Amino acid sequence: MDERIITNNKIEEDNFESSIRPISIDEYIGQAEVKENLKIFIRASKLRDESLDHVLLYGPPGLGKTTLAHIIANELEKNIKTASGPSIEKSGDLAAILSTLEPGDVLFIDEIHRMPRYIEEILYPAMEDFSLDIIVGSDGNSRNIKIDLPPFTLVGATTRAGDLSSPLRDRFGIISKLNYYTVEELDRIIKRTSKVLDVEINDNASLVLAKRSRGTPRVANRLFKRVRDFALVMGNGKIDLEIAKLSLNRLKVDELGLDETDKQLLESIIFKFNGGPVGIEAIAASIGEEITTIEDVYEPYLLQLGLLKRTPRGRMVTDKAYEHLKIDKTDTLV
Ligand SMILES: Nc1ncnc2c1ncn2[C@@H]1O[C@H](COP(=O)(O)OP(=O)(O)OP(=O)(O)O)[C@@H](O)[C@H]1O
Ligand SMILES: [Mg+2]
Repeated sequence: MDERIITNNKIEEDNFESSIRPISIDEYIGQAEVKENLKIFIRASKLRDESLDHVLLYGPPGLGKTTLAHIIANELEKNIKTASGPSIEKSGDLAAILSTLEPGDVLFIDEIHRMPRYIEEILYPAMEDFSLDIIVGSDGNSRNIKIDLPPFTLVGATTRAGDLSSPLRDRFGIISKLNYYTVEELDRIIKRTSKVLDVEINDNASLVLAKRSRGTPRVANRLFKRVRDFALVMGNGKIDLEIAKLSLNRLKVDELGLDETDKQLLESIIFKFNGGPVGIEAIAASIGEEITTIEDVYEPYLLQLGLLKRTPRGRMVTDKAYEHLKIDKTDTLV
C-alpha cells in the first residue's frame, strides 16, 4: 500500500503539492531567518539589476526547498528552469538546459548532490564566469568550444549538504538551511491549505494535525488530505477534533507523529540489537527499508525528538524511546 504519509516518493502527489504551494515569499510560512535574508538579497539584486547570487537550500525532505526555489524566481520576476541531479547524465544535457536561459533566470537543480562529478566540473565555470566549456566532436576530431551564457542564478536543493563536493559548495554565495517547523507554523500551514482547498477545519483539529506532522509541511498537507476524506465520508465534510483524532488513529500516526515504520525502526533496535549501538545497514536490513530513506526521512526526526542518538559505534535508542513505546527496558535485555 502506498497510502503512506511519510515517504520519500514525491512524484505521485506532485499535482496536489503544486496546487497548494505558496507563490510569493510572504505567503511562505516560517523559516523566518532564511526568508528575511533572501528578501534582502533579492531586493539588492533587483536594485543593482544583476542576477542573484547562486543559492543552496538544504534540509530534510518536505520542508519547502522546491517551493522556495519557485518563490525566488517569482520574486525576481524571472523564469525558472528545473532539472534534477540524477537526470543530468551527459554534458550535453546540462548544456541544453543552460543554453535556454535568459538573463537573470533561475536554474533549479533538485537533488544536486546526486549529479555526476564530471557534470559538476562543467558547472564550475558556468557558475563562476557564466561560460560553458565543452568538447564537441569525437576522438580524432574533437575541439573545445567556449560559449558565453547570460548571467543566471543556480538554485540547488539537497537533503544532504555533506554529500556535496566542497568546490561545488564553495560556489554558492547564499547557503540556507531549512529547519523543522514549529507546531504553531504548521498550524498556520494547515489553515492555509484548508482555505486553498476550501475545506473547513476547526482550531483544535488543526492543532492536533500540526502536532503530529513531524515538523514537516509535506506531512501536514498529506495528513490534511487524508483527514479530509474521513470528514467527507464519515462526517459532514468539516474537520473537527473527533474526525481528526479518529483519522490519525486509523492512519496509525501517534501523538509524536511517529508512524509504523518509525516504531518498527525503534523496536528493531530494542528487541534485535539490545537497544544498540547498531549500524545503519543492519537496521535497514532488519526492517526492509533503504538506508537513504532511513537516513533522510526517519532518522532526522527521531534524533530531533531525542528518541534516537548517534554514537561513533552506531545508533542507540534512548530512555525516552522506551518510555514513549511503553517498553520496560529490563524486560528486553538478553
Ligand atoms: N513554508 C511553507 N509554507 C507553506 N507551505 C509549505 C511551506 N513549505 C512547504 N510547504 C508545502 O509543503 C509541500 C512540500 O514542500 P516542497 O516540495 O517544497 O519540499 P522540499 O523541501 O522540496 O522536499 P524534497 O526534499 O522532498 O524535495 C508543498 O506542497 C508545499 O506546499
Ligand atoms: Mg523538492
